[in-house]
Amino acid sequence: MSTETARVAIAYHSGRGHTARQAEAVAAGAAAVPGVVADLVALDELTDELWDRLDAADAIIFGAPTYMGSPSAVFKAFAEASVKVWAADLGWRDKLAAGFTNSKAMAGDKLNTLVDFSVFAAQHGMIWVGLDLYPGWAESTASIEDLNRLGSWLGATAQSDADVSAEKAPPETDLRTAAYLGERVAKVTLRHLRGSLAA
Ligand SMILES: Cc1cc2nc3c(=O)[nH]c(=O)nc-3n(C[C@H](O)[C@H](O)[C@H](O)COP(=O)(O)O)c2cc1C
Repeated sequence: MSTETARVAIAYHSGRGHTARQAEAVAAGAAAVPGVVADLVALDELTDELWDRLDAADAIIFGAPTYMGSPSAVFKAFAEASVKVWAADLGWRDKLAAGFTNSKAMAGDKLNTLVDFSVFAAQHGMIWVGLDLYPGWAESTASIEDLNRLGSWLGATAQSDADVSAEKAPPETDLRTAAYLGERVAKVTLRHLRGSLAA
């Protein structure tokens, strides 16, 4: 754990590219904070290098599409494989954690995916960071362009119309919310690292 530079890994799966767009936005938001390096880690192949990159991170932001009301099977395979980190004296203890998900319905039972991520993080002894935003698009004068238009606190959510390609969905409004989550986690991680130096 370095106190000069904060490393934020984005550990994500995407079946058809929509959640990958959201992951890229989270990474861009984190990388925009001075002193922070963002590392996009696709979970399709669980190589030794992948585990090393996650080990080197100070924060890991988990992301997956919501499939059948929970994280995709590829993400769940990663979560189960991570038991080897858990068994080695909670190897991710005190890393910061956060999450994001995307689905085709406005609700789509996305909350269950975020709950799954937060329980997973807790089992690893990680520290969960939620979204410090009021819900957008929730008053008569509000706009669909508001940050957090889908109104979630546990993490960032996005919606992608099922017949629209990943070039066009999720919409910019949800990508801005994703970037905001990345930025927030980056700032909290820096604070956490500097605090541990002082302690
Ligand atoms: C097997 C499967 C299950 C899905 N289950 C849900 C669901 O529970 N709720 C929902 O709103 N959308 C559901 N969807 C739609 C996806 O979440 C949506 O298409 C998303 O944009 C896919 O992201 P990706 O391109 O990153 O894979 C499902 C799609 C698939 C393939």
